[in-house]
Amino acid sequence: MNHAATNEHKTKFDIDKIRADFPALHQKVSGHDLVYLDNGASTQKPQQVIDTIKTYYERDNSNVHRGIHTLSQRATDHFEAARVTVQEFINAKTDNEIVFTSGTTESINLVANSFGRAFLSAGDEVLISAMEHHSNIVPWQLLEQQIGIKLVVAPIDKNGNFLLEEFKALLSPKTKLVAITQLSNALGTLTPIKEIIKAAQAVGAKTLIDGAQAIAHTVVDVQDLDCDFYAFSGHKIFAPTGIGVLYGKHDLLDQMPPYQGGGEMIKVVSFSGSTYNEVPHKFEAGTPNIAGVIGLAAGLRYVSEIGIENLAAHEQALLDYGTEKLKSIDGLKLIGEADAKASILSFQIEGVHASDLGTLLDHQGIAIRVGHHCAMPVMAFFGVDATARASLAFYNNFEDIDALVAAIEKAVDMLR
Ligand code: ALA
Repeated sequence: MNHAATNEHKTKFDIDKIRADFPALHQKVSGHDLVYLDNGASTQKPQQVIDTIKTYYERDNSNVHRGIHTLSQRATDHFEAARVTVQEFINAKTDNEIVFTSGTTESINLVANSFGRAFLSAGDEVLISAMEHHSNIVPWQLLEQQIGIKLVVAPIDKNGNFLLEEFKALLSPKTKLVAITQLSNALGTLTPIKEIIKAAQAVGAKTLIDGAQAIAHTVVDVQDLDCDFYAFSGHKIFAPTGIGVLYGKHDLLDQMPPYQGGGEMIKVVSFSGSTYNEVPHKFEAGTPNIAGVIGLAAGLRYVSEIGIENLAAHEQALLDYGTEKLKSIDGLKLIGEADAKASILSFQIEGVHASDLGTLLDHQGIAIRVGHHCAMPVMAFFGVDATARASLAFYNNFEDIDALVAAIEKAVDMLR
């Protein structure tokens, strides 16, 4: 396949112009041009996001919701405008359905601790899938130990497909929450999320979608999905680390007790008791990550300008090209070949340990992730302890895939 022709055919934006926006992409690593293929772990930031955060600290830095002075008002205005940007990005009904957290992990823990402790009891079932990230497994195991809920796991097949019929068979009136990834970080599987939500609703279960990976690779419309909760992180979508979102339907958030106590989440505090603020502030105790929130909005605006459909089409072309090229490498086995996939190429090479491969690729300027990808159960399902994982973003190009393949071939020659 001629990669230049493929690129021209599929890409509806100027990839060189886009790449120029990301300063971190333009550096040498081990004497080679950096090829950054670890976007599933964290994405690089465009200059627009970096500048937005810099300007905030240079001009507007102050606390939010607390001050009468100009800087505090400016910071509050930017902070609350960012909430509206998030609302629009995921098409939530109102901005008070957007809770800022430190990331997907905290968002899921918030649901487990607040919704879980208030509305679940011993014997109630939380249904997850066999390809969840640890952050969508362990919070439920904690709840299992603390209040006696039961964790139920829906299976996948040997290609990493989510098995919808088997999932439906596990649903029952005991299922109180279905918590499923929209895009597996270890395999790249896109789950049939709308069907999952619909089936969960049919038994009266609430739904929590782990959108950590999906948010940067597919259109997310929470009203169309009709999920109860949606969690994602800023750093996977070209925004800073330490900031994330929990979307929740307003009525549900309203009924849930606070997750943490502190400043900002209260209305009145006295030693005989306290009353709580409205949602979303009820869930935002303490001084928030203001620069992170403002940077998140800048990241979302950047993506919106390109158009998530355009970016997804480019990544799909890269994924198809990468899949074909990797499969042509002798002894390479893809881990995760689901019918619907996005952005992730996870693989093993016969006779080569993933961590040795990762090190040798780094020596050639290529950044991938190796290991269990915080998804040990799905690694165990495939009978492996680690994979090498190249994960794409829209600023990757076909030359990045060619460089990856050439570097793998060179590394394999050295290691075998
Ligand atoms: N969850 C992130 C990953 O998949 C860190 O790499």
